[in-house]
Parts: sequence; structure tokens; C-alpha cells
Amino acid sequence: MNSALPFARVGVVGCGLMGSGIAQVCATAGYATRVVELEAAPLERGQQMIRKSLERLRAKNQLSAEQTAAALSRLQPSLKLEELADCALVIEAIVENPAQKRALFQRLDAIVPGGALLASNTSSISITELATATRRPERFLGLHFFNPVPVMKLVEVVRTLATEEAAMQQGLAFAASLGKIAVRTSDRPGFIVNRLLVPYLLDAVRALEEGAGSIEDIDAGMKLGCGHPMGPLTLLDFVGLDTTYFIANIMFDEFRERRFAPPTLLKRMVLAGWHGRKTGRGFYDYSDPEHPRPGRGFTAASGGQT
Ligand code: CAA
Ligand code: NAD
Repeated sequence: MNSALPFARVGVVGCGLMGSGIAQVCATAGYATRVVELEAAPLERGQQMIRKSLERLRAKNQLSAEQTAAALSRLQPSLKLEELADCALVIEAIVENPAQKRALFQRLDAIVPGGALLASNTSSISITELATATRRPERFLGLHFFNPVPVMKLVEVVRTLATEEAAMQQGLAFAASLGKIAVRTSDRPGFIVNRLLVPYLLDAVRALEEGAGSIEDIDAGMKLGCGHPMGPLTLLDFVGLDTTYFIANIMFDEFRERRFAPPTLLKRMVLAGWHGRKTGRGFYDYSDPEHPRPGRGFTAASGGQT
């Protein structure tokens, strides 16, 4: 154990877009890191994402070959939640579904030692709603990372009415040990960033539906006009249209304001299985990942392909 770190061993449940990145940064920072998935296929996909990401960092000399090898050696993939029994912190990064997350936390509560911290990487679900699925709400918090986790510096540390100060301090120390910059926030829908970002992303879809511009012109507008590294429709494909749709429904359910309601086009794309980069098709077609091609947009006027 690296005595400078607040925990000896951490666990991550879910090895998708976010869980793989969280596991990667934990292992890179020196933590023995267990990462658990339901099935072998997504677990292998997630490990492939980690290997690719570490290789990018090594190729840019941001990590040495030794650091890359050490990070990989600390990663312990697993299909058994029970193997998290020796973790002092477990971070959940599974699908944005309150029932599934609560069911998982009920199981984790029985597996992980009582003094350990439990945390969720949820984008929008109430941390209190998740904490009350356990018998340790005082040892429960939100640790909201940003995509891609190896690159984005921010972690939102979310406190509920029940979270004890010691847990908050441990969460803040953990974020710092990863080289992240933490902001503190309360348990409100979307916390800080998604409270502001989600309406913007949804409005980009509405702008497309309304015929304000083409897919690529809406993206170019925000990149060239506002200096965004990605246009909103590219970012939606990057985050995942399915995840964004789940987030929008959860935030709309709390705020009951149209700006949080998922646009019809977004729902239809999710129903069609167009989840963005991760399924090869969203607003863009990723058949050639290096050269995404804008798909055919929908405009309210035409009611169909444009
Ligand atoms: N692992 C390691 N390195 C990565 C990486 C990964 N997964 N993805 C990108 N990088 C590195 C690249 O190697 C490159 O490094 P250098 O600049 O040192 O060469 C750098 O990041 C830039 O990558 P690219 O050149 O491929 O492309 P880019 O310049 O467009 O940057 C990006 C990619 C960092 C993702 C950038 O486009 C960006 O910041 N996009 C916005 C991302 C964003 O807004 N994230 C938040 C989403 S919302 C969220 O996460 C919350 C939620 O709940 C939904
Ligand atoms: P994803 O679909 O890429 O990955 C979810 C993973 O969870 C999948 O690999 C799936 O197999 C696994 N999973 C589902 N149920 C499980 C269970 N019961 N046990 C173990 N594994 C299970 O999704 P994602 O984008 O990584 O999002 C995960 C969480 O992170 C969500 O709560 C999301 O809101 C949040 N988040 C997402 C982003 C983003 O940009 N995608 C950013 C910040 C936070």
C-alpha cells in the first residue's frame, strides 16, 4: 500500500465509458483497483478502452512505460461483486437508472465493510435516493467525474444531508490523490455542471429539429463562435445519447421545466439504438472513427431526413 494514499484498495462497479476511465485514473494514481462488470464482454471492452487510453498517454510521454505497466498491474478486473469486500471505497458507474443503482448499492452494502465509503458517479440521480438504499448514508457521497476521465480535471464531490464531514474530507482527499480538482456541491439535480450543461445540449437537438442549422453547422457554431472543444452534437455522441436521455428524464422529473425535457428526436434516436460514438452511430456516423460523417438530421419542417 502507498501510505500517502487515503485508501489501500478501491473498487469501481461498471467498466463502460466512465467506469473504465475512473478505474484507469485510480490505478495510475497508485491504488489497487478492482473493476467489476456484470459480464465478460463489457469487462473486456472496458479494459481495451483503458489499454488504448494508457497507450495514448504513453505515446505523448505523459506516462512512462513503467508507469503504464504499473497502472495495468494494479487493475484487477472481476465479474464478482463479492471481490469488493476488501475495498475501502467503492465507486459506482453503472447505467443511469435509479432502480438498478439502488439494487446494486443494497448488494454492496452487505458486501463492503461498514466503515468503507460508497460513492456514485451518477450525472443526475439524487445521491440521497441512492444513499438510502444502504445502512450507511453518513458514509455515502457523490463523486462525479467528467468524460474523458483521464483528461478532464474536475470532480464534483456531492454531499447529502446525511453525509458526515469525515466522509467529505476523505472524498476530497481521494479526488486530490488522483490529480483532480474538486468542487463541492449539494445533492440537487445535475449538481453544478449538468444543471447548466444539460439544457444547452438538449437545446442543440431542438435547434436541429427546428431547422436552425445542419448538424455540422450547429457544432461549428459553438466551436468557432464560443471556443468549445467539441460542438454540442459531437459532445452528445461522446457522452452517449442513451445516457443523456436518462439524465434529461431524471432532471425533467424534478424540475418539470420544458428545457430539461428530452426532445422527440433524441428519444427516437435512442429507441433506434443510435447511442452515439459507443454504438457507431449518433448524430454522426462513426464507421470511420477517425473521420466521423454527419448523419442526416431531422427538422420539424420536413418531419423526415434532410
Ligand atoms: N485518454 C487519454 N488521453 C486522451 C483521451 C483519453 N480517453 N481523450 C483525449 N485524450 C487526449 C489526447 O491524447 C490529446 O492529448 P494532447 O492534447 O496532449 O495531444 C488531448 O486529449 C486532446 O485529444 P484529441 O487531440 O483526440 O482531441 P481534442 O483535442 O478534441 O480533445 C477532448 C479531446 C479532450 C475530449 C476534447 O474534445 C474535449 O475536452 N471535449 C469536451 C469534453 C467534455 O465536455 N466533457 C464533459 C462531458 S459532460 C460529463 O462528462 C458529465 C456528465 O455527467 C455527462
Ligand atoms: P456506459 O453505458 O458506457 O457504461 C455502463 C456500464 O455499466 C456498462 O458497461 C454496463 O455493462 C455496466 N453495468 C450496468 N449494470 C451493471 C451492474 N448491475 N453491475 C455492473 N455493471 C453494470 O455508461 P457511462 O457513460 O459509463 O455512464 C455510467 C454512469 O456515469 C452513469 O450514471 C452516467 O450518468 C455517469 N456519467 C456519464 C458520463 C458520460 O459522459 N458518459 C459522464 C459523467 C457521469
